[in-house]
Amino acid sequence: MKKVFGYAAPSPTEDLGPYHFERRDPRPDDVVIDILYCGVCHSDLHTARNDWGGTSYPVVPGHEIVGRVTETGSAAKRFRTGDFVGVGCMVDSCGHCFSCFHGEEQYCENGATYTYNSIDPRDKLKTFGGYSTMITVTEKFVLKMPDGLDLKGAAPLLCAGITTWSPLKHWKISKGSRVAVAGLGGLGHMALKFAKALGSEVTLITRSKGKEEDAFRLGADNVIYSTDEKQMSAAKLTFDLIIDTIPNVHDLNPYIPTLKVNGTLVLVGYLGELEKLHTAPMVLRRRAVAGSLIGGIPETQEMLDFCGAHNILSDVEVIKMQDINQAYERMIRSDVKYRFVIDMASVKEGK
Ligand SMILES: NC(=O)c1ccc[n+]([C@@H]2O[C@H](COP(=O)([O-])OP(=O)(O)OC[C@H]3O[C@@H](n4cnc5c(N)ncnc54)[C@H](OP(=O)(O)O)[C@@H]3O)[C@@H](O)[C@H]2O)c1
Ligand SMILES: [Zn+2]
Ligand SMILES: [Zn+2]
Repeated sequence: MKKVFGYAAPSPTEDLGPYHFERRDPRPDDVVIDILYCGVCHSDLHTARNDWGGTSYPVVPGHEIVGRVTETGSAAKRFRTGDFVGVGCMVDSCGHCFSCFHGEEQYCENGATYTYNSIDPRDKLKTFGGYSTMITVTEKFVLKMPDGLDLKGAAPLLCAGITTWSPLKHWKISKGSRVAVAGLGGLGHMALKFAKALGSEVTLITRSKGKEEDAFRLGADNVIYSTDEKQMSAAKLTFDLIIDTIPNVHDLNPYIPTLKVNGTLVLVGYLGELEKLHTAPMVLRRRAVAGSLIGGIPETQEMLDFCGAHNILSDVEVIKMQDINQAYERMIRSDVKYRFVIDMASVKEGK
């Protein structure tokens, strides 16, 4: 076993703090990765605080991992020592169900193994995430980082990036499409960048004043306020797709009429039960409310390669591991532009 140092939440109500644990020695198909950067996703916070239930403590969050390969298993052929690689939200899946066969491992019918707070079905050990010095991952779930892409800005692509890229591709967003993004945070800012890069007209729907300038810089053509009934009703029948990144339960009813005929509002936050949703605006215009979970491994590589070709990165604020608890508080206040990324050198050097 390999000794690892990271930060863990010991319970839903305590701060994250230093935690020593172990990871497996590489299996034949494994890659061992020295973690350089790890993005901070709102899902990390939800899991640390048990917002969704089912958190097994202590939990080491982190699933926007970028690092360098230090060792490969005897049968692992895709990577060499020294390669820069990424790991997202999943570290394994069954490999043979319909979804896995089609490269959509996130929808594995037998349950994908998540990077943290999962049990590895092969050795029954708990998985621990990227707020740590190193990780061992099956090579199939390791992504190649495009040459020349800034690694700290690329880390959030592994979750915030793919989670917004996947619905844009699934709903065939391209030149001439009209896309709205609800909520300008980690996922929202990537959605603006991708929707723009794919040639669509992009609108940010936000509840916060003062984000206009950033929104335009990030790719928005328009900004409207979810709280402004006049602006919302003026936008009726506008969007092909709304990517809703809001992390808490909210009223969807004002958003649905802004969709065109056949338009879809896709939720990426796990909100639990929705507030009452009026069906008439859906029935009368064949509109849909859908959900979407990260993206498959082939699609994640496609997204990373697209970012490499177009130099698309997340706007990040680099923090030390020790600052994680303040970062969570700031994330709850929407006070982040637009993703915190932990520099793992801060852990290794004990700074
Ligand atoms: N489906 C998936 O695969 C997947 C993957 C990753 C994350 N997620 C989930 O996606 C959600 C967003 O994650 P994130 O990391 O982007 O979060 P984030 O950085 O905190 O951004 C969320 C944004 O939503 C808006 N917002 C926050 N609270 C709100 C409220 N109570 N009412 C209305 N708007 C609110 C804010 O934008 P404005 O100030 O502009 O309104 C905020 O910046 C989380 O629930 C996360 O768990 C899902
Ligand atoms: Zn995430
Ligand atoms: Zn499967």
